[in-house]
Amino acid sequence: MFTGKKGMAVLGLLVIASMVLTACGPAPTPEVVEKVVKETVVVKEEVQVEVTKVVEKEVVVTATPPPPAPVAKELTVYHWWTAGGEKQAMDVIFKHFSAANPDIKIVDNPVAGGGGITLKTVMQGMLAAKMPPDTFQSLSGSELKMYVDGAYLEPVDDVWKANNLDTNYPAVINKMVTFNGKKYGIPMNAHRANWLFYNVPLFEELGLEPPTNVDELITVAKTIKAQKPDVSPIALGSRDKWTAIFLFDVVLLSEGGPDVYEKFYTGQLDVATDPTIKAAFEKYKALIPYLYPYHGAKIWSDIPPLLGEGKVGMMVIGDFAAAQLVQAGYVEGKDWEAVGFPQEPEEVFLMIVDTFTRPVGIKHPEANTAWLSNLADPDTQAEFNIIKGSIAIHKDVPDTNYPDDLHQRASAAFKGKRIVPASAHGALAPQNFLSDWQDILTRFLYTGDVDAALDQTSLVMTSYDVAGQSEWYWAK
Ligand code: GAL
Repeated sequence: MFTGKKGMAVLGLLVIASMVLTACGPAPTPEVVEKVVKETVVVKEEVQVEVTKVVEKEVVVTATPPPPAPVAKELTVYHWWTAGGEKQAMDVIFKHFSAANPDIKIVDNPVAGGGGITLKTVMQGMLAAKMPPDTFQSLSGSELKMYVDGAYLEPVDDVWKANNLDTNYPAVINKMVTFNGKKYGIPMNAHRANWLFYNVPLFEELGLEPPTNVDELITVAKTIKAQKPDVSPIALGSRDKWTAIFLFDVVLLSEGGPDVYEKFYTGQLDVATDPTIKAAFEKYKALIPYLYPYHGAKIWSDIPPLLGEGKVGMMVIGDFAAAQLVQAGYVEGKDWEAVGFPQEPEEVFLMIVDTFTRPVGIKHPEANTAWLSNLADPDTQAEFNIIKGSIAIHKDVPDTNYPDDLHQRASAAFKGKRIVPASAHGALAPQNFLSDWQDILTRFLYTGDVDAALDQTSLVMTSYDVAGQSEWYWAK
């Protein structure tokens, strides 16, 4: 207990201390008050002036963050490459990065969820809270634009110029990372979204040819169902709702061709009345009886092993599925094969472009520059893309880089066919639209209600102003 003059002085000091603390900001926590008492007791023997000094010291400690620790040489990376093939491909990037930057520690943060579906949400939270990682994965095109519009990204023109990417990358890629006259990401690969994978022994046994358009797809599916009732003719993993978009997209390309496709996804068509969109929905509906019945319970990466085993006949997906099949030991040409789909009315390269960024306010800008430069390096791209299933976009990586037929055909298609940015996976359609669109399509796979789907699509096209949001794509 405090008694006598000294005791009163101490109590007085406690009052002063608490007043100073109150005046200096938010109310102190109980722990802080306790600390003040301790300090006051220590200075009991000293004069009042000195005691006040100690109290001030406490206030400073409470209100000011500790001095920053020396900045470690690290690079925090967020990405979504966790499936078979994806992880191994990411390890190649890490290997090249560490060889060139042995003093920088990589802090790897993989967030599972194909196509970055979960990472997108995680990033939006981190960026809004001003806690950016040193770099994170995005997709060139409208997804990248979403982060640019939110003012979350710094331009990367320095890396772009230093690596001469105006010359070394195709013009279409340039366009997909350029917003407000600046570059906002460094891509390193192009995936083709419009492959039709199929099980080779099944096709051989039934004497089937791979289909070239959606009508043939329906015919082939019908044959499989009739001859092999235990095999699902067409599979998808619609727990990843974007897989429903992949399937719709090839139907739309088959019905309308690439011009209609681009117009649809950039809001140039009146969906409620457009006959081609209605026809595409009718054909999409015609596929429903041939779908793997448990598609709603599976994600994209559950399906390739089923196809490798012959439990499902066909699957429309990007060439990241090839990476997974290869990793699982299934052999192209023997166990599975893939063809560009549709080939009629015109075979296109429906493109997805994986990209990394430079967020605003990062802790390790030099490490970011080193990371992005490594991605632009043709040697990194050459090795990474062999495993990833995609093709390098740096022109110094030759077709002969790829040991397998699928890559070589992708590379030839990339150079020889029309390149169309894929809708899903960020390239073409605006993100807010895509989110509702994948719900509409997933629901449709259970209802088959064409009129309702057209009404809903028309509504979200208008309410998200897809046309206005897509002006960047048509700008010269
Ligand atoms: C895409 C990405 C691919 C692949 C796929 C599934 O968005 O471009 O590299 O990872 O998602 O996760």
